[in-house]
Amino acid sequence: MLGDCKIIDLPKIADPRGNLTFIEAGAHIPFAIERVYYLYDVPGGAERGGHGHKELHQLIVAISGSFDVVLDDGCKKKRFHLNRSYYGLYVCPMIWRELDNFSSGSVCLVLASNRYDESDYFRDYDSYLAAQGLK
Ligand code: TYD
Repeated sequence: MLGDCKIIDLPKIADPRGNLTFIEAGAHIPFAIERVYYLYDVPGGAERGGHGHKELHQLIVAISGSFDVVLDDGCKKKRFHLNRSYYGLYVCPMIWRELDNFSSGSVCLVLASNRYDESDYFRDYDSYLAAQGLK
């Protein structure tokens, strides 16, 4: 579960005119991309996330600036600091996540395996733990 979530080192084409990174479904991430969304203008001290997903796979990228993602499988927690546009954090289904420590002007890009569906969310930590058989 938590062990399946990891930083993926994305391809980087270094160029004096500016670097380029690309992401191909199936090649660099283990899911087909159905949706893209991004968080921006995040005020200092704000926290995002605070939920889990039943079936959704995601890749989280700090396209600009930096922030932390705390992943939790109900037993263990792991904090990832994202601060490079060529690192993607793969988050598998059934993981609780929280995002904090956003730097000023940071942008969080998320690639997702499905379209937005509120019924795929665990909004409550206790119901997430119950679904994991931990409560
Ligand atoms: P949410 O996923 O809770 O945001 P975060 O995890 O970043 O804190 O979504 C916040 C709101 O935006 C919620 O009302 C649902 C809505 N939303 C969409 O309509 N479509 C989307 O693709 C996403 C990610 C959220």
